[in-house]
Amino acid sequence: MSADLKLRLGVNIDHVATVRNARGGAYPDPLRAALMAEAAGADGITAHLREDRRHISDGDIDGLMAALSVPLNFEMAATEEMQRIALRHKPHAVCLVPEKREERTTEGGLEVAREENRLAHFIAPLRAAGCRVSIFIAADRRQIEAAHRIGAEVIELHTGAYCDAHAEGHLDARDRELASLREMAGYAHSLGLEVHAGHGLTYDTVQPVAAFPEVRELNIGHFLIGESIFRGLGPAIAEMRRLMDEARS
Ligand code: PXP
Repeated sequence: MSADLKLRLGVNIDHVATVRNARGGAYPDPLRAALMAEAAGADGITAHLREDRRHISDGDIDGLMAALSVPLNFEMAATEEMQRIALRHKPHAVCLVPEKREERTTEGGLEVAREENRLAHFIAPLRAAGCRVSIFIAADRRQIEAAHRIGAEVIELHTGAYCDAHAEGHLDARDRELASLREMAGYAHSLGLEVHAGHGLTYDTVQPVAAFPEVRELNIGHFLIGESIFRGLGPAIAEMRRLMDEARS
C-alpha cells in the first residue's frame, strides 16, 4: 500500500488518565501508554485537555510534547485559555471540539456555522504558528462548508451516532448514519479538506469507515484503552491496525 493511501491511526490516551485520576496519583502514566502506542504502530497520539482537567492534565501535555516522536493531535475547546496553551506548545495538529461540563464525552460536533466569525479569528493565530487546524463536526454539509470558509485544513467527522446505532442494534439508523458519513467525507474532500473520523469506533464498527477512500485518519481511544485490559495495549492497537488495513485493501 502506498504511503498516500495508508490510513493513519491516532490513538487517544485520555482514558489512561481517567484511570490514573480515579486514585489521584501518577499511575498509570498516559505518557507511558503513548510511547507503547507509538511502538505498536500508532501514527499519532491524540489527547484532549478539557477545561475541567478531568483526564489529561497540563503536565501530560508537557510530557507528550517533549517525548513523542509521532505527531500530537491536541484536542481542545475554542477558548482563550486553550488557545494560549496551544500557542505555547505548537503541536502538530489542533482539533477543535465542543465541550460542555455536564457531558460525559464529546457528544456532538462543533457548531461552526453559527460561530463562523469568531472561529475564523480563533484559528488564524494557530495556523500562523504552524498547527494544522482540524474541526470536529457532524456529517452536515453546512458545518463542512463553514469549516472550509474559516480556513480549517482538516475536518474530523463525528462517528458517534453511527457507533451508538450499531451498539443499540438499530441497523437502519446505523446504515443511514454510515451513508451520510460516506457522502460528507466525499463532499469535504471535494472542497480540498483533509478528512478524519472518530468517536466510539470499535473492532465491529471501524471497517466500513476505514473503507472510505477520502478518510485519511481515524482517532480512537476509549475502546482501545478498554480492550487493552484484556489483550494488552500493543496487541489491542495491532488488531485495530490490521482491521483498518484490511478494510483499505
Ligand atoms: N475524535 C475526537 C475529536 C474526540 O473528541 C474523541 C473523544 O475524545 C475521539 C476522536 C475518540 O473517541 P473514543 O474515545 O470514543 O474512541
